[in-house]
Amino acid sequence: MARVSAIALALCATTSPLAAHAQKLSDSQVDGVVQRLAEGATHSWELGTRAQALLELNSPAYSVLTANAAVPPSSNGPVSLSDVLGIAKSVVANLTNTSTVAQPLISGDGAAGDPASLGVAVLIANLTGQTGEDYGGAAADQLQYLLEKVPRTSDGAISHRVSQVQLWSDFVYMVPPFLAYYGVLSRNESLIQEAYVQCQLYRQYLRDDAAGGLWKHILLGDFNDAGHWSTGNAWAAAGMLRVLGTIQRSSYAKDFTAQQSSLVSWVSEIHDAMYAHLPSSALFNNYVDANNSFADASGTTLLAASVYRLALMAGVHTHLPNAEKSRTALFGPSSGSSSSSASSSSSSSSSSTTAPPSSLAHFDGDMWLTPVVNPNSFGDEGSQSPEGQAFVVELHSAYRDWVAAGSPGANAATARRAPALAAVAAVVLAMAVGLIH
Ligand SMILES: *[C@@H]1O[C@H](CO)[C@@H](O)[C@H](O)[C@H]1NC(C)=O
Ligand SMILES: *[C@@H]1O[C@H](CO)[C@@H](O)[C@H](O)[C@H]1NC(C)=O
Ligand SMILES: *[C@@H]1O[C@H](CO)[C@@H](O)[C@H](O)[C@H]1NC(C)=O
Ligand SMILES: *[C@@H]1O[C@H](CO)[C@@H](O)[C@H](O)[C@H]1NC(C)=O
Ligand SMILES: *[C@@H]1O[C@H](CO)[C@@H](O)[C@H](O)[C@H]1NC(C)=O
Repeated sequence: MARVSAIALALCATTSPLAAHAQKLSDSQVDGVVQRLAEGATHSWELGTRAQALLELNSPAYSVLTANAAVPPSSNGPVSLSDVLGIAKSVVANLTNTSTVAQPLISGDGAAGDPASLGVAVLIANLTGQTGEDYGGAAADQLQYLLEKVPRTSDGAISHRVSQVQLWSDFVYMVPPFLAYYGVLSRNESLIQEAYVQCQLYRQYLRDDAAGGLWKHILLGDFNDAGHWSTGNAWAAAGMLRVLGTIQRSSYAKDFTAQQSSLVSWVSEIHDAMYAHLPSSALFNNYVDANNSFADASGTTLLAASVYRLALMAGVHTHLPNAEKSRTALFGPSSGSSSSSASSSSSSSSSSTTAPPSSLAHFDGDMWLTPVVNPNSFGDEGSQSPEGQAFVVELHSAYRDWVAAGSPGANAATARRAPALAAVAAVVLAMAVGLIH
């Protein structure tokens, strides 16, 4: 019977919407993920993504995704911001302003878009009155550099690369959220519009009609990656949600209603296109529609986070069951774990997974997410992904906020009946197993 329990648990964890409130990471598990993220994040985009993940986890009022205002109180930055402010300080303190032209937040990066991912953290440092560094000047330089120095397509899409015009789906997470946040803080509606237009242009170039609306990864320049990279689709959806949230929570919301509708439909479009390819494992392939690709927990995690955010921000509930499948698979126990955790998760809808890390299916003993794409080589499987760690923090936070809001879009009646139905499912499964063996 232990075997049947394990199978029933696997069923609940990976395929059943009844497991809606199970498989929540414990505080100590989240702490482990956050620690590995802190140790692993070194590249510009990893630091920027780490900052955003920490805002969502610890300082939701500043995250633009959760709280009531995009521009929170400007003084007395709460202690929960300390890690984010530390990132901003380490970046700005490294700048040496010997040039007479505006410089990005990290020089010599090669990528034009990636250093801008740090812009929101630097703006928050300025907003909360941090002293010792010229945060406002550094942010202004980064903005000017993007708007005036980085090459563009003829119709205005800002390149993701410094040396040539090349568009990467990643850009949508790195740049437009910074432009929108800067626009709101500086009361510049044309900058808010620029954030929106960059999303629009990138979609126009990268969306692949022939593939149901999946986004290609890289176009133009000296090499292309026209494949439908899962993490790239997730970067685009999550980046557009940050622009949406920044506008929604600002005093300019009423001036940008059409733009908000478009952003919601463009995020939904990616969800529709991606979830059409969700395998029974609930982890996307690294290239979502390529059958010779490996499973990637990293992109799967960020996309699932964006589903809970879209539900909270726009009331779109379509893909919550798919996101729940991915989340419960990602945060659930491995199939070899004990039957006692099986009985506790099926007998109480509020219990969280308290198993030690080693018994989680998609984390190693140190709480690194697995399996993941190599963050420095998008076609290859890697072993440790700092951005993947940030995505785990974002999924954990998005799910937490969704539950705190009353799980809008979940079928409450079904959730309450979950233990009984899970028991029935286990009996049916036991009968089926009995019949077969
Ligand atoms: C700051 O510069 C030092 C020395 O070059 C480098 O090791 C460190 O990674 C830099 N920090 C950031 C956040 O760029
Ligand atoms: C930084 O803060 C100062 C003081 O509040 C403000 O005048 C300036 O506009 C801010 N800069 C940016 C880029 O937000
Ligand atoms: C760097 O120097 C340029 C040109 O003198 C100036 O416009 C800019 O504000 C400076 N940036 C910082 C962060 O001091
Ligand atoms: C507003 O932002 C635009 C870039 O979109 C810039 O050209 C313009 O100078 C800004 N206006 C002000 C008043 O800062
Ligand atoms: C992979 O997909 C291609 C195109 O749909 C198909 O021709 C091929 O047989 C598939 N290969 C496997 C191993 O499923």
